Amino acid sequence: MGNPGRSARIVTTGTPVADGTRRRRLHVITWGCQMNVYDSARMQDVLTPLGYVATDRAEDADMVILNTCHIRENASEKVFSELGRPRPLTQARPDVIIAGAGCVAQAEGREIIARAPFVDIVMGPQTYHRLPEMVARAARAVGAVIETEFPAESKFDHLPDSAAPAISAFLTIQEGCDKFCSFCVVPYTRGAAASRPMDAVLAAARQLVACGAREIVLLGQNVNAWHGDVGDGRAGGLGRLIRELAEVPGLLRIRYTTSHPRDMDDDLIAAHRDVAALVPFLHLPVQSGSDRVLAAMNRGHTADHYRRLAARLRAARPDLALSTDIIAGHPGETEADHRATLALIRDVGFAQAFSFKYSPRPGTPAAAATGQVPEVEKDRRLAEIQALLRDQQHAFNRACAGKSVKVLFTGPGRRPGQVAGRSPWLQPVHMSGPATVIGTEIAVRIADGHPNSLAAEPLSHTEELACA
Ligand code: 5AD
Ligand code: SF4
Repeated sequence: MGNPGRSARIVTTGTPVADGTRRRRLHVITWGCQMNVYDSARMQDVLTPLGYVATDRAEDADMVILNTCHIRENASEKVFSELGRPRPLTQARPDVIIAGAGCVAQAEGREIIARAPFVDIVMGPQTYHRLPEMVARAARAVGAVIETEFPAESKFDHLPDSAAPAISAFLTIQEGCDKFCSFCVVPYTRGAAASRPMDAVLAAARQLVACGAREIVLLGQNVNAWHGDVGDGRAGGLGRLIRELAEVPGLLRIRYTTSHPRDMDDDLIAAHRDVAALVPFLHLPVQSGSDRVLAAMNRGHTADHYRRLAARLRAARPDLALSTDIIAGHPGETEADHRATLALIRDVGFAQAFSFKYSPRPGTPAAAATGQVPEVEKDRRLAEIQALLRDQQHAFNRACAGKSVKVLFTGPGRRPGQVAGRSPWLQPVHMSGPATVIGTEIAVRIADGHPNSLAAEPLSHTEELACA
């Protein structure tokens, strides 16, 4: 509503609830990373006091939020092609509010309005706490509401923590990034790095656990750059924060994602040795195994630095498994560089990984660099990388067969009578079993290791608690 060609009006849809607020239905479509999944939940929470309740059906909604991702070209093009989806809704019911959020909204707000003029609100990730005000303005305004500034105040101060957390709950502790990797839009779309203060993180964690969370996944674009006052005015990093979190009664597991090799300091590595609740699994993007390409990417470390880091982490926690991100075909990447990436993958060995074809993002240094790699070449290199990573993942899963593994059960499985959960190494696990195990972490026997998941059965006898 409220855009040129659509008359301004006050939202009056929905059924009044007990406190006099009208009940309205909210449908959120989320693309991209866990940060976006978390943000979508927070937007929902911010809108609850206005009477919004979630609906799975866009056609029933009074407001639709498209929470977008910009990190790779195919991700943002997909968003643009999907933006047309709610259009018939607004034609049938002009008072429906359509909002674009996330990184595409931040980077290409005006383009969104140009390509989808029925969109009422365009908001960047730093502004979600102001959603109620934007909704009110959209109800009155004649043009679209665009909010893509980086505000001086911290958004951590405003967003409520989840009202109904999952057994595995996300908690954002860090936002933005100052690393300026050559290929990446995050420093431009999410702004400078900012850390949520330790007291606020601990309070949020206690609240999540009180509401049923047993695992907390600490989120941030560059989460291991977290730093803050850890008491008595002393500065500390993520290792210290994790030690404090491990003291929260009832919290069984701690994860963090996503990290930069340069921010893996001694104390954080020691936390992997000392803190039992910190899972033996780490997503540590390397992007390339070639020193030339790593330098061109502005990553600030070499391939051997990463190898040594992996070895130190495994020395600290012998059952630790690694996951990573790889980019195929960064500008200037030669066949020899590509071979160096395959060699690094073989040397380190990954339990899981995400790999991408380099896609030029407007405004980033790599997009303007010479030596762009032809698409067919990028496709071939990516296919080779993915074949190797797939083999490593399957081998890791197969090696779990016959072992006893602790699984945090988080919900029912796909088939009747099944329960599903995650191993410490983030592998999806399913087992025939009673719903009473949901919300508990129990040792089970892995019967089979599939390419993407593990099949488990109740434990009959005690075995070694480790994979690979
Ligand atoms: N092209 C391809 N992959 C990218 N990533 C980020 N930007 C790009 C890009 N322009 C990948 C990186 C990062 C992950 C989240 O997305 O591997 O770690
Ligand atoms: Fe992007 Fe990660 Fe590099 Fe930051 S560290 S610029 S988020 S790839």
